[in-house]
Amino acid sequence: MTVLNKENFEVSLQNRLNQKLNSLLKNKNIIEESISYALSNPGKRVRPLLIYLVGDALNIPERKLDSIALASEIIHTYSLVHDDLPCMDDDDLRRGKPTLHKKYSESTAVLAGDAMQTLAIKIILEDENLSNENRVKIASFLLQTIGHEGMILGQDQDIRFEEKLKVSKDEIIEMNRLKTGLLIEFCILAPILISGTKNDAWQEMATSVGISFQLIDDLLDLEESEENLGKATNKDEQKNKKSAPIVVGIIDTQKEIKKYEDKTMESLVKLGLNSHPLADYLQDLYRRRK
Ligand code: IPE
Ligand code: IPE
Ligand code: MG
Ligand code: MG
Ligand code: MG
Repeated sequence: MTVLNKENFEVSLQNRLNQKLNSLLKNKNIIEESISYALSNPGKRVRPLLIYLVGDALNIPERKLDSIALASEIIHTYSLVHDDLPCMDDDDLRRGKPTLHKKYSESTAVLAGDAMQTLAIKIILEDENLSNENRVKIASFLLQTIGHEGMILGQDQDIRFEEKLKVSKDEIIEMNRLKTGLLIEFCILAPILISGTKNDAWQEMATSVGISFQLIDDLLDLEESEENLGKATNKDEQKNKKSAPIVVGIIDTQKEIKKYEDKTMESLVKLGLNSHPLADYLQDLYRRRK
């Protein structure tokens, strides 16, 4: 479990990321420079960490997970680059630094985001540690996750709901599942695909963790400071977002999160993983304040 040593993880992942990026981004043109800028500002690295933790639970060697972990973080970071654009959430601060369009330009941010998507898929398709069959399966799963029926659709709903007066709780949960939940589901389920394991408890857990991750993000927007989060706060209400705490209130959102937390813990028990580091990490995620 070398990667999973908490202290080493960030350095280790950052080194792997940098090594891979340096070999892929050789020209150092503005697009490549801006991609490196976005990826070198460290976030929490939740998605790669989930991949390694699930991989560990299934005894998958880390080398079979590296490209998927990198790809997940590249896709997530691209989604933030586009999410921050003036035509989307219009944010100037991300991970404590100027957003990509502020540091470079709007056109660079659009194009760097586009290039990050193709880069992530290329990394998976060229991974010699995976069989040809698994490369295609995983790339296809990731594309399904982030495309017009997945993350993009969720982001579109998020923006459209700004103009709607009434949005139901079910619609909000579905938007959260699409825009944020599915990529987290991918991180939990892609290692399962490699190992060929079958158990519905994995899917139940993945859905719960994914939806609640966005519910918690929405609470933090209302409750935490810009310094702590490294991004603007109290922003959702101002933008007329239909987040759960704004529409149904903080208390009901906390209850909803608790429901997903209970489901997550039940799934871990069903899988016999309640003492695995994955369980500790998921518990920490439900308690996170950033
Ligand atoms: C923020 O994601 C955006 C959402 C999908 C809720 P993270 O909270 O994982 O952001 P970083 O990667 O730590 O910056
Ligand atoms: C972002 O959700 C979801 C995606 C990028 C797909 P938010 O808009 O709530 O994320 P933050 O709060 O800007 O990080
Ligand atoms: Mg957004
Ligand atoms: Mg945003
Ligand atoms: Mg948010």
